[in-house]
Amino acid sequence: MNFLLTGGLGYIGSHTAAVLQQAGHHVVLLDNLSNSRLEVADRIGRITGTRPVTEVGDVLDTIRVRMALRHYRIDAVVHFAGLKAVGESVAQPLAYYHNNVAGTVSLLQAMAAEGVRSLVFSSSATVYGQPQYLPLDESHPTSATNPYGRTKLHIEQMLHDLAASDATWRIAILRYFNPVGAHASGLLGEDPNGIPNNLMPYIARVAAGQLPHLNVWGNDYPTPDGTGIRDYLHVMDLAEGHRAALEHLQRTTTPCDVFNLGTGRGTSVLEMVRTFEQATGQSVPYRIAPRRPGDVAECWADPTKAQRVLGWRAERSLHDMCASTWAFTAGQRSAPAPHILAV
Ligand code: WQD
Repeated sequence: MNFLLTGGLGYIGSHTAAVLQQAGHHVVLLDNLSNSRLEVADRIGRITGTRPVTEVGDVLDTIRVRMALRHYRIDAVVHFAGLKAVGESVAQPLAYYHNNVAGTVSLLQAMAAEGVRSLVFSSSATVYGQPQYLPLDESHPTSATNPYGRTKLHIEQMLHDLAASDATWRIAILRYFNPVGAHASGLLGEDPNGIPNNLMPYIARVAAGQLPHLNVWGNDYPTPDGTGIRDYLHVMDLAEGHRAALEHLQRTTTPCDVFNLGTGRGTSVLEMVRTFEQATGQSVPYRIAPRRPGDVAECWADPTKAQRVLGWRAERSLHDMCASTWAFTAGQRSAPAPHILAV
């Protein structure tokens, strides 16, 4: 089948592109390069043997999206494109509403105009807000504590309204918990611009000697070791979850549904540090620092609905999440600068 991946050069998009190509599908990547590099398409090609078609453009350009949907005879869209830094969203809410919400409206208008009504949407466990019970299932109340989370919630509500207005849509909303890790080849991974906000890329930079130590944001939470607990899942498991969702859309009669993609296991910050050191042999010096505003103590998934309906289950270990992250980081350090690659 032919799939359009918006934000397809990004961390999760690129891993999903590789998985879909290796399952025999054709993928077209649409990316505005705001937080990614064109070189990632070459790397996907080195993994799968086929460099994916890549359109440098923005989902806000409705006409451009319509042309791509028509030209490549797209059967379904996976919508990754969007801004995703919690802190940045507080400082720049309009940029988040414009890119994330208006961008999704533009994409949906293009899809409706071209008769493409199958969509997988990249949502986030952040829509659960402060957990009222754990593990979190899809029925848990939703709320948002920052503009980033509110854009995800608004988009989810838009998708439910669209499906209610036209039952021919087939939409899977995937609520990611904490994606980490890298492709086994070491060619794809999480490589954020600037200082990472998220735990795993920050740990990797400390292990690589690029940052002096990890700040552990609070060790006074009501958890066994006092540090925050999250449900970390391997990005390759997450990518395979997208393939399972796309296959599900071909057979379901439900216009719009929501699925948690997590492991169902919680890991604390200090457990992650210890596992990373054991998996890589690298030391990760850390200091206890004050809590980060907006953080919740614990958050982990009840993944049974995705297992039951999508036939998907996260299989990879925390050890592999750490080892693959380090292999990618080490590969990045030894890789020549992109301009040399281009020669
Ligand atoms: C994990 C744990 C921190 C960094 C966010 C978004 C979510 C999704 C994933 C986009 C927490 C602690 C972190 C550090 C630390 N993003 N930590 N020192 O906050 O669970 O989720 O990223 O889709 O939507 O909300 O992930 O990796 O930032 O934090 O101690 O330098 O690690 O306090 O307990 P989070 P995270």
